Amino acid sequence: MRKKIVAGNWKMNKTLQEGLKFSNDLKEALKGKTVNCEVVVGTPFIHLSEVAKNFEGTVVHVAAQNIANKEKGAYTGEVSAAMVASTGANHVILGHSERRAYYHETAELLTEKVELALANDLTPIFCVGEVLEEREAGKHFDVVAAQIKDALFELSKEDFSKLIVAYEPVWAIGTGKTATADQAQEIHAFIRKTIADKYGEEVADNTSILYGGSCNAGNAKELFSNPDVDGGLIGGASLEADSFLPIIEAFN
Ligand code: 13P
Repeated sequence: MRKKIVAGNWKMNKTLQEGLKFSNDLKEALKGKTVNCEVVVGTPFIHLSEVAKNFEGTVVHVAAQNIANKEKGAYTGEVSAAMVASTGANHVILGHSERRAYYHETAELLTEKVELALANDLTPIFCVGEVLEEREAGKHFDVVAAQIKDALFELSKEDFSKLIVAYEPVWAIGTGKTATADQAQEIHAFIRKTIADKYGEEVADNTSILYGGSCNAGNAKELFSNPDVDGGLIGGASLEADSFLPIIEAFN
């Protein structure tokens, strides 16, 4: 059975000290609590090692928000998959719409990053999602299917089955405007079918598909109650333990 997952994405927020305070706060808040989902915290590179150490022995995993598309070498300023894995982090967010929009990440580049992540035992949390004009034009199904097919469908069945997919409609990210539970279910079911058509029902059934975009304590339970919504990728509400914990507890 596929995993339920609540993952945070801090984006470019928090100094190292603030990040460590968050990890202490969340550890404290989770003490003695029943947690019915996998919890992942996506930090900037700077924080990975210390935050991973701090969460050791807890239910919380740590994710990077990017990796280089090269293995190693003369690529000043880049951080490789092997480097991320060496910190104790075991996930990486790839293909986020902010990286696609601001850093021009293409399907081809994302394929390279996914392959390097998998080669280094990092679980990719692969993001897809349409912009508002595409949704309004009714093109969201085609856009999302193309994002998945173009970057991922060269992977073997074995490799694809290691991925987590996150559907994040760009119009819902940081806007306070959430997809309705019905909109989320509709496109998550479509994503699962797209995966099933290529890799079969078993792989599709075992793939966790997360929703992201203004997900918070107030709407998480309703969104996660949909059969094809297996959790969330959380931006703003993942920045404080107080706002992140209720989203984790939406599975209780
Ligand atoms: P918000 O939860 O702030 O809308 O961000 C979602 C997101 O982009 C997570 O990757």
